[in-house]
Amino acid sequence: MLGLKLLTDPRWANIAESNLEEILTDHAWCEQKAATNAISLITQNSEHPDLVHELTAIAIEEMQHFQLVIDIIKRRGYALGRERKDDYVNQLMKFMKKDGSRNTAFIDRLLFAAMIEARSCERFRVLSQNINDKELARFYYDLMVSEANHYTTFLNFARRYTIDVDVERRWKEWLEFEGKLIQSYGKTEHIHG
Ligand SMILES: [Fe+2]
Ligand SMILES: [Fe+2]
Repeated sequence: MLGLKLLTDPRWANIAESNLEEILTDHAWCEQKAATNAISLITQNSEHPDLVHELTAIAIEEMQHFQLVIDIIKRRGYALGRERKDDYVNQLMKFMKKDGSRNTAFIDRLLFAAMIEARSCERFRVLSQNINDKELARFYYDLMVSEANHYTTFLNFARRYTIDVDVERRWKEWLEFEGKLIQSYGKTEHIHG
């Protein structure tokens, strides 16, 4: 799926479902971080009008996802907890190239975003297919579709804007790295946990 090297064990969905308040809190903050990431990509690369345009739409959509999650939290009488740390994303961040040319860093930032969208999409699929809660299963199905579109957008921007990066080759390196990294996860009630 989306080139991912390792698919999530469906049993992770049972862990997630055993603590819905926690997975929903973590999920809400994932959406906020995705919006923040899109906004900072706009800020740092404002010379590309089509990127500004499409990432504005994504930032808004991610905050709409945030709103949908906090609405569910409220309706169910849960509380939105404090922002949760995302160890998986922090590990991906370390793999991101920050040296080299401005273009190299820009392209890797887009691939970093595509990587998170791809895994989030896969995790939403696992939830949609394996949890017993009908409302949430439908909700996660819809989000899976949306995050798949974001994945495509980020990857296509990397292909469009590269100057000196072999995007297909670097994307393969990302998939290899992530495939090993994800082996350490799938044990907690967090979206990337
Ligand atoms: Fe989202
Ligand atoms: Fe997204």
